[in-house]
Amino acid sequence: MSILNFRKTDFIPEEFSRQKIVIAVDGPAASGKGTLAQKMAKRLGYAHLDSGALYRAVAMTALEIGADPSSFQEVQPALNIVLRNLTPELLSCPDLRTPEVSDAASKVSAIPEVRAALLQHQRDFAANLPAYVGGVVIDGRDIGTVVCPNADIKFFVTASVEERARRRFLELQSEHKEATFEQVLADLSARDLRDTTRKVAPLVAATDAYILDTTKLNPAETLDETIAVIRSKFLSESGDVAKPVQKAV
Ligand code: DC
Repeated sequence: MSILNFRKTDFIPEEFSRQKIVIAVDGPAASGKGTLAQKMAKRLGYAHLDSGALYRAVAMTALEIGADPSSFQEVQPALNIVLRNLTPELLSCPDLRTPEVSDAASKVSAIPEVRAALLQHQRDFAANLPAYVGGVVIDGRDIGTVVCPNADIKFFVTASVEERARRRFLELQSEHKEATFEQVLADLSARDLRDTTRKVAPLVAATDAYILDTTKLNPAETLDETIAVIRSKFLSESGDVAKPVQKAV
């Protein structure tokens, strides 16, 4: 679906009436959406929030305290610890990226109470940007559908599961981490299934999202394509200067 087919949303909660540009980047595991969102934010001079890191932080802390990542009762203390300590250092910690934490993150993210607590944090982040920042890029699974349903632009980044597994496998190899391609493919398929079938905020493209299939695109081509889409909607031909946008109200 093209962004030219933007649907006006009937209802905008009070807290979303703001001037800053919000760009939602959703997609399955290892689709490249995180790298894309990071680069897009850098190119535009916007803030970036990796919402997956929030779920990973809860998962890592849950594993550290020996909690079952599927049980809210057991995960709750970890959630409380993380909510009191959501620092940039924690959210960029390399330990958040281990296969164990990835698996546990997929489990904690299916718990409605965890989602509700982290939803508020994400909305607060988007609503409280410093005055000098023109917008924010948030990446995740439900940004365009639940967290920021009125985002100015929504991208849904995807690629075939085999291609995503190939990329993740090469990444693990370059980090000298042990894994077979078959293992990585099975892990990704299991996470896809959990992410798309959970009851609360399942992974699904927003109806007004621009779908970007990166199976045959490299990261630079993917970034260029998104910047072209953003330019065509907001930016002047002469530079990365956002024009005022008439919000749907
Ligand atoms: O994007 P990621 O792989 O870092 O996300 C880790 C897990 O968190 C993933 O299994 C799905 C979940 N997640 C989510 O449910 N909603 C988000 N907005 C972001 C991530």
